[in-house]
Amino acid sequence: MEESLLNNVIALCKRRGFMFAGSEIYGGLANTYDFGPLGVEIKNNIKKLWWKRFVQKRKDIFGLDGGILLNRKIWEASGHTASFLDYLVECKTCHKRFRVDHIEGFQLQKDGTAECQSLPSCPSGEKHTLNVEIFQKKEDGTSIIKPRRFNGMFRTYIGATEDSDALAYLRPETAQAIFTNFKNVVNAFSPSFPFGIAQIGKAFRNEITTGYFIFRTLEFEQMEIEYFIKKENWENVFKIWQDEMMDWAVFVGIDKSKLRFREHDEQERSHYSKRTVDLEYQFPTGFKEMYGLAYRGDFDLSNHSKHSGVALLFKDKETNEEFFPHVVEPSFGVERTLLPLLLDAYAQEEKRIVMRFVPHIAPVKVAVFPLLANKDDLVALAHQTYENLKKSIDGLIMFDDRGNIGKRYFSQDEIGTPFCVTVDFQSLEDNTVTVRDRDTTKQERISIGKLSDFLINKLSS
Ligand code: GAP
Repeated sequence: MEESLLNNVIALCKRRGFMFAGSEIYGGLANTYDFGPLGVEIKNNIKKLWWKRFVQKRKDIFGLDGGILLNRKIWEASGHTASFLDYLVECKTCHKRFRVDHIEGFQLQKDGTAECQSLPSCPSGEKHTLNVEIFQKKEDGTSIIKPRRFNGMFRTYIGATEDSDALAYLRPETAQAIFTNFKNVVNAFSPSFPFGIAQIGKAFRNEITTGYFIFRTLEFEQMEIEYFIKKENWENVFKIWQDEMMDWAVFVGIDKSKLRFREHDEQERSHYSKRTVDLEYQFPTGFKEMYGLAYRGDFDLSNHSKHSGVALLFKDKETNEEFFPHVVEPSFGVERTLLPLLLDAYAQEEKRIVMRFVPHIAPVKVAVFPLLANKDDLVALAHQTYENLKKSIDGLIMFDDRGNIGKRYFSQDEIGTPFCVTVDFQSLEDNTVTVRDRDTTKQERISIGKLSDFLINKLSS
């Protein structure tokens, strides 16, 4: 049943223009998606709300928009060249590749070997054998294998020649431009401690294991904050950000009962992290990472200082003490916000499918209809109402005069439009319209003069 929820959401997303398989007319490109007119609205809503909440409404967090292409030395200093690795095994028969840490029964070790129960077999479920060398067999039957190492950063070349000097990477996380601009922001704004720098932007990873739908893609957007603190405060700040992440997820309409925190053990933690907790969502296939929260210590600032020769220190204004700030990093995926939102919003009722988005996330805020498309005076007043609402309401407003009114309501329910406004014959007499509520399907009459305020108030509540 849960699998069918996912299939229903995928079908609706394509049918109604939320998102499409990438490069579709050329047979597609695995693990890429294009966002259609409604998908881009929701993504923009997510990013706008996040920016407002974590940058504009706070005095301790500064915004940044760093490059996707950065000097290659940055990835050496950050440890990504050496340590942003996936460990993969390949099937001898079907030639599919699998990330070892994603295969049930396999335990990846810190030294890059993996333990697996009994003989390693192809995770596809077929009776295939994996192309791996077993270099130790333990008495309890466990095998130790050495998977292939694979760096997850996308490579490209700058300039006309493709030699090693021209090699560059597409950023696999937005975080690094924040660290390399730390001094610039401190010099320009003299922030007091603690403070953060936030960034929203694309990140790229050469993922081997395919995720389902938009869960794991080659390019995606991150919303990240590096929050700079004194070392002794990290546990306290970590807890505060755990709560902030949870509150944000609930604010955008994700069901709290499907969320949980999961601690990374030492094997799983990224090379830079001293503690990582994932905020997981219960997807139809089980709990999986939605967001990550990491305590990065002073790993990044001290390494960039060493490699660049520029000391990325912070000077305490009272004590004059200079030190490397420590960092707590909440990292939010835009698509990993979108997918849970879609799954939680989807409801199949007896007569209709309805996406129950919270109004601030809904891709279309209001739809306006003339009761009949062939009555010029109804159409003219509906157009005028539509134009007025476009001026006063922030977000997409739709006009629809196709088919009958019932079909138009159902069509808007299916894309989660919170309110539909209908101009009918009574409107021509008394300047009122009906406003239909998506969730209750109840209608009330509102005078056109008060319509904008009425809707703005409803949309913000
Ligand atoms: N700067 C820390 C960092 O990048 P991460 O856990 O590797 O940490 C952070 O990624 C978030 O980015 C994840 O929690 C997830 O929301 C999102 N993310 C990571 N890889 C992704 C992928 N291949 N597709 C979609 N989202 C992804």
